[in-house]
Amino acid sequence: MTIAETFQRKHPGSAALYREAVSLFPDGVTHDTRRFWPFPLYVDRAEGSRKWDVDSNEIIDYVVGHGALFLGHNHPAILAATQQQLAKGTHYGASHELEVRWAAAVKELLPSIESLRFTSSGTEATHMAIRLARAFTGRDKIVRFDRHFHGWHDNVVGTAGPESTTPHSPGVPEATLSNVIVIPPNDLELLDSTLKEHRDIAAVIIEPTGGSWGTYPLANGFVQGVREVTSQNDVLMIMDEVITGFRLAPGGAQQKFGVHADITTMAKILAGGLPGGAVGGRSDVLAYIETRDDDWNENHRIAHQGTFNANPLSAAAGSTALTIVSDGELHKRADSLTRRWVQGMNALIRKHGVSGCAYGYSSKFHILLGRPCPEPIDDFEWPLHEGRREMPSAMRPDLALALKQGLINNGVDLMSTGGMLSIAHSEADIDKSLDAFEATISQMQDEGLL
Ligand SMILES: Cc1ncc(COP(=O)(O)O)c(C=O)c1O
Repeated sequence: MTIAETFQRKHPGSAALYREAVSLFPDGVTHDTRRFWPFPLYVDRAEGSRKWDVDSNEIIDYVVGHGALFLGHNHPAILAATQQQLAKGTHYGASHELEVRWAAAVKELLPSIESLRFTSSGTEATHMAIRLARAFTGRDKIVRFDRHFHGWHDNVVGTAGPESTTPHSPGVPEATLSNVIVIPPNDLELLDSTLKEHRDIAAVIIEPTGGSWGTYPLANGFVQGVREVTSQNDVLMIMDEVITGFRLAPGGAQQKFGVHADITTMAKILAGGLPGGAVGGRSDVLAYIETRDDDWNENHRIAHQGTFNANPLSAAAGSTALTIVSDGELHKRADSLTRRWVQGMNALIRKHGVSGCAYGYSSKFHILLGRPCPEPIDDFEWPLHEGRREMPSAMRPDLALALKQGLINNGVDLMSTGGMLSIAHSEADIDKSLDAFEATISQMQDEGLL
């Protein structure tokens, strides 16, 4: 039986739900990256590093809530905190103690944050970050890097294709798009000349481990370089820590790279697996949300509402999660398991004579099959040093599909062509995942795909 046939046979319950879903949602899904052929997996419950689909298949989960679940599914402390809060009320329409505890925990972990506001998502956080930067500087343009993802609002839509530098999306006014400059990453001279050429740039926004949660990595020192170049040119630096925040280290990418951003955006781990985001940073920048006298309010102030800002359930989960992640030992364990998983995949890729590689950073990993790769540093990090500038290419769609289907058939779920680990993942999970990876690449070879 082929990989695709096995996938169909093992998931009749998912197939049936999808048949209903296609009449309800565009593409039958509620998030673009959940789109899958011939149908996506429908999950019924989850615990620790595992989830179970509606057909009772047990799956080791590397999607971990799109990166939100650094503590794994249903961590007992998160469960207790949210259950306790649930019994007390889900929304007070008022200020509450947990939002204060939650914000204090953020400030404790991220020293660049002097003041912050909670939002409901990462998209809202980057939206506000850009508005703050424009208000603070009085300038309109934003620089962002090719393939760096910052959500889906009008200011951060992607380019039409990899070669294009012009953002594009139907439904977004030309005036908005023309205020966003997209440049390739890993070129500090280009960044510097861009900032010098356009004196109306408010901020540079960056994913600090590279585009698409590190699929397209950054050269060593690039983040520090962006900090220097932005400071020299009097432009704000927005660090988008929606993925990296609290994952790379308790203090996120800023702790890892020794950099302080002017504005930081957060979500995912921030809210302990519940919906939530935040924008924080220099108090003189965040001050633009403050009310003052009439003239200020009329001419400078940014309004900020949001029904679910600092929602008590998210605050309960988030403040608990941040207390737990303040222990950097957890990060070391997740990082070392990720390294073992990536190095194990590379050993299997070599054993089977397949072209490609796995690479990672911290507790995130990516897989690229069917293309020759440069030797990853330490069999782990994509090499971008000593003048090496090749970016990983995208995997051929038929290979990406077979890889994900094959791994699901063998009890492992990826996020696109990679994933993230949680502290709930174990060595046994990695061993099982490596067996699944070997079975999948063997079958892809048998089917003539590799
Ligand atoms: C780096 C980055 N920024 C922003 C976002 C948007 O966050 P959200 O999905 O919470 O709107 C994401 C989502 O994956 C992200 O990875």
